[in-house]
Amino acid sequence: MATTTFCTYLFLLSVSLSIFDLSSSSSEGDTLLSFKASIEDSKKALSTWSNTSSNHYCNWTGITCSTTPLLSVISINLQSLNLSGDISSSICDLPHLSYLNLADNIFNQPIPLHLSECASLETLNLSTNLIWGTIPSQISQFASLRVLDLGRNHIEGKIPESLGSLKNLQVLNMGSNLLSGTVPAVFGNLTKLEVLDLSQNPYLVSEIPEDIGDLENLQQLMLQSSSFQGKIPDSLVGLVSLTHLDLSENNLTGGVPQALPCLLYTSIYFFGTPNKSHITKKLRPNAI
Ligand SMILES: *[C@@H]1O[C@H](CO)[C@@H](O)[C@H](O)[C@H]1NC(C)=O
Ligand SMILES: *[C@@H]1O[C@H](CO)[C@@H](O)[C@H](O)[C@H]1NC(C)=O
Ligand SMILES: *[C@@H]1O[C@H](CO)[C@@H](O)[C@H](O)[C@H]1NC(C)=O
Ligand SMILES: *[C@@H]1O[C@H](CO)[C@@H](O)[C@H](O)[C@H]1NC(C)=O
Ligand SMILES: *[C@@H]1O[C@H](CO)[C@@H](O)[C@H](O)[C@H]1NC(C)=O
Ligand SMILES: *[C@@H]1O[C@H](CO)[C@@H](O)[C@H](O)[C@H]1NC(C)=O
Ligand SMILES: *[C@@H]1O[C@H](CO)[C@@H](O)[C@H](O)[C@H]1NC(C)=O
Repeated sequence: MATTTFCTYLFLLSVSLSIFDLSSSSSEGDTLLSFKASIEDSKKALSTWSNTSSNHYCNWTGITCSTTPLLSVISINLQSLNLSGDISSSICDLPHLSYLNLADNIFNQPIPLHLSECASLETLNLSTNLIWGTIPSQISQFASLRVLDLGRNHIEGKIPESLGSLKNLQVLNMGSNLLSGTVPAVFGNLTKLEVLDLSQNPYLVSEIPEDIGDLENLQQLMLQSSSFQGKIPDSLVGLVSLTHLDLSENNLTGGVPQALPCLLYTSIYFFGTPNKSHITKKLRPNAI
């Protein structure tokens, strides 16, 4: 009797577990379909995203799933598919989504702030689209991001102070936009930054903020072809991890701080239009 009850219990448990599995897996597929519903896909690049075939959503174009937890979407890579329409926050119903790459499409809208609802999101790549408007102060809602690429869009206006609260950022690309005004002293707080790109923003008329020199993990600093002016701050000698520095095509005066060439830079591009002076160093402390 006891054995029968136990077996019945096991049977019920396994039935309910498999029902649970089915419902949880179909709900991630449904979430992807509702994201697709707001996207214009003129090339039918997302034709595999369909509930009419037996193709599991983990095998749909651009989708990568995890093995633990089993078959949960962790990454969506839809770059270069000529997609437009709305980037819907429904995607944030995917509990383990950590990587979203929509680069090189034709999304024509402001920065989709609602993606900050994606609790696990670490990488957001929106580069090379038609994203427009200003960077709102609510950009601080993206506090969990490690990689934010907004490069090659039409983003305008000032860089907001609140950007300084994105303390987990390792890569920040805002190059090739229409940013303007003075760069605020907000980068010194972003101590994990390894790549900072503010290049090709012709209306960014600013001195180079001194606090950039506090970024001990910074490997790449790209400030070329904007309108940086004034003296190159001596504080840049604090960039002890730097391997790539590009200051070319700005309106900087004075010289590279004395201490700079002694560091481990692999390349320094300096000012001028075209490059008035161009220094390439291949110095590594251990190799000297
Ligand atoms: C890309 O999308 C636009 C707008 O939806 C459309 O007009 C154009 O034909 C598409 N290009 C290709 C190659 O599909
Ligand atoms: C399949 O997806 C369509 C569009 O999202 C939806 O209307 C339909 O109810 C779905 N069918 C099933 C069986 O889930
Ligand atoms: C994805 O497709 C491969 C190859 O057809 C198949 O072996 C695998 O089981 C599929 N994955 C899922 C989750 O259905
Ligand atoms: C974003 O995607 C573009 C297009 O593939 C790529 O070139 C770029 O390196 C990506 N950005 C980051 C930070 O990985
Ligand atoms: C930088 O960090 C300090 C100390 O944590 C904080 O007081 C300040 O408000 C931060 N600045 C920005 C721009 O986030
Ligand atoms: C560069 O700076 C000088 C001196 O401040 C100024 O006269 C000149 O207009 C600036 N050039 C550009 C292209 O901003
Ligand atoms: C400046 O120098 C860099 C490195 O050689 C080069 O890639 C870039 O095209 C140059 N810019 C101009 C305007 O010559």
